[in-house]
Amino acid sequence: MQKRNLEVCLTPALLHLHVFTQSIVVVIDIFRATSSICYGIENGAESIIPVATIEACESYRHSEYLLAAERNGEVVDGFDFGNSPFSYTEDKVSGKTIVLTTTNGTHAINMSRGAHKIVIGSFLNLAALCDWLKAQPNDVLLLCSGWKDKVNLEDTLFAGGVVHYLREENYALDDAGIASEDLYIMAKDDLNTYLKKTSHSERLKKLGIEEDIKFCLNLNITKGIPVLDGERLVKMII
Ligand code: MLT
Repeated sequence: MQKRNLEVCLTPALLHLHVFTQSIVVVIDIFRATSSICYGIENGAESIIPVATIEACESYRHSEYLLAAERNGEVVDGFDFGNSPFSYTEDKVSGKTIVLTTTNGTHAINMSRGAHKIVIGSFLNLAALCDWLKAQPNDVLLLCSGWKDKVNLEDTLFAGGVVHYLREENYALDDAGIASEDLYIMAKDDLNTYLKKTSHSERLKKLGIEEDIKFCLNLNITKGIPVLDGERLVKMII
C-alpha cells in the first residue's frame, strides 16, 4: 500500500510551501482556540463560525448568534466572550451558534480553505481525532497556528502527539513531524510543567488565566471532531 504523507506545518507563514488540496488539514491552537472549539462542540454548540476579523464578527451582531472575540489573549470589548474554554460550557453554548474570531486560531482555519477536509484538534480530542485519521486514505497536514506567524511550543508538541499516536501506521513523515514527535516524547510525561516555559503561558499567566492552560491539557475528555462544513464548524458525523 502506498504511504500516506503526514506533514507538520509549524506556522501558518509556512503554509504556502505545502500542497494540501487532497489532504485533511488538522488545525491546532492548543492555547486556546482549538481546545475551546472542541469543548464547545462537545457541549452541544450547534456550530461555530470562525471569522478572521473583529469586523466580520461584528457583522453578525444583529443575529441570534453569540459573538466571541479575542485579541492578544483578552476578550475584545463589547463581545459576549472570548476564547476561554470555561465560556464554552453546556449551559452557555448548548444549541447555540457562536461566531468566533481569535488572534491566530481562526486565521489558521481560514487559511486552510481549499483542503480536502478541515478538522480541529486539541489534547481534549486527541484519541478520537487520531483514530479517525487512521481510517482515512488521505494525506494529513497538521497546521500549527503558532503566535502571529511565529512557531510556538504548545502547538508543535500537540502535532508531535498526533505523529506519536499514528506512529504504527503507514505514513511518510517530514522533518517537522519527526522533530515534533521528538519534542513530544521528551515532554509527554509532564506536559503541564514543560509548557510553563511557553510564551503564551506567560501571557495568559499575566492575565490571571492560568486555569485555562491546565484545562487545555486535559487528555481525551471529548470524543467529537469539529469539521468545517461551508462556513461553520460542526460535529462530524461518523
Ligand atoms: C489564538 O487564537 O490566538 C489563541 O487561541 C489566543 C488565546 O486566546 O489564548
